[in-house]
Amino acid sequence: MPVPAIIFPADPLNPRRPDPHFAWEARTLRELGGEHHLVDHDGLLAGRAEEAVRRVPRDSGPLWYRGWMLPSARYADFAAALAARGGTLLTSAPGYAAAHELPGWYDVFEGATPASAWIPSDGPVVPGPAELAQAVARLGGQGPAVVKDYVKSRKHEWHEACYVPELADLAAVGRVVERFVELQGEFLAGGVVLRRYEEFEGAGVPVGGPVAVGAVRGPGAGGANAAGGVAGAAGPEGADGGSPAGGGRAVEARVWWLDGRAVLVGPHPDAPRWAVEPDLTGVPALVRRLGCRFVTTDLASRADGSGWRVVEVGDGQVSDLPRGIDASGLLASLIAA
Ligand SMILES: Nc1ncnc2c1ncn2[C@@H]1O[C@H](COP(=O)(O)OP(=O)(O)O)[C@@H](O)[C@H]1O
Ligand SMILES: [Mg+2]
Repeated sequence: MPVPAIIFPADPLNPRRPDPHFAWEARTLRELGGEHHLVDHDGLLAGRAEEAVRRVPRDSGPLWYRGWMLPSARYADFAAALAARGGTLLTSAPGYAAAHELPGWYDVFEGATPASAWIPSDGPVVPGPAELAQAVARLGGQGPAVVKDYVKSRKHEWHEACYVPELADLAAVGRVVERFVELQGEFLAGGVVLRRYEEFEGAGVPVGGPVAVGAVRGPGAGGANAAGGVAGAAGPEGADGGSPAGGGRAVEARVWWLDGRAVLVGPHPDAPRWAVEPDLTGVPALVRRLGCRFVTTDLASRADGSGWRVVEVGDGQVSDLPRGIDASGLLASLIAA
């Protein structure tokens, strides 16, 4: 069976090299004996998929992507352009959308993730008061909530465009949603999502290194994370003050799943120096039910001690991997898949 290669975005300034953000992953892959190809990310975003994949050799067989997020429709173009050259992305376009967009994974994870309601939209349109009221009603009509789109929040503008202190205050919900839509602009993905706010733990254990599960740890694994610093009780690095009372945003663990198996449990890129060891009970079954081969789940622990919650699911190809983490096990698993 042919061994999968991995496609990375090319450096816009030097199209023969991987984008600097992904260069270390490409280097690790090469050390493992893996092969990579390059794609023009701007070309993909602009709807010029055929041109964007021209550096991917013909008949390249099975392929993974590790790169910047793409809207689901652009990913579908990407997959089709590769297929036309004899390459197969191992995550199909429907599979990508299912893991990348909240409505794609929510039904499977319902109960394990904060209750959510969404309002589809065609572009950056603010939902009307009746639509918002219906969504609020679906969440029980009261209590705090969080606003995002199908893919991203504006967590760095927490009070302005993310956190809703009280759903019953429909005018306040409207203001936060309106500001969110305005700031997302043309990047608004899918529509507006409201999620019930749950209080998560805001402090983890300062890291020695991520916990690698199962897969091989490659050469040089040892001090890969030696940079781990001291983080104070104020919360994770990356917490920006834009958070609810009581400190930084949740400290999350990012779990990387391949074929239903956790191949890497590491910190979230927002707080790369914090290690959390999530209780994964029940999560593998959900990941398998979702049916996507390569996904991530971000988990946070509830402040009241009642256990771990899935904050969000993502497609593993476009989830950020904190720099300095030992990615060799993950990449080795991908090229062995
Ligand atoms: N339902 C929620 N309850 C409490 N905090 C939340 C909730 N949803 C999101 N958050 C906080 O906001 C952050 C951003 O939300 P998330 O859904 O992960 O969006 P993004 O895709 O922008 O990372 C999370 O990392 C978490 O700290
Ligand atoms: Mg997140």
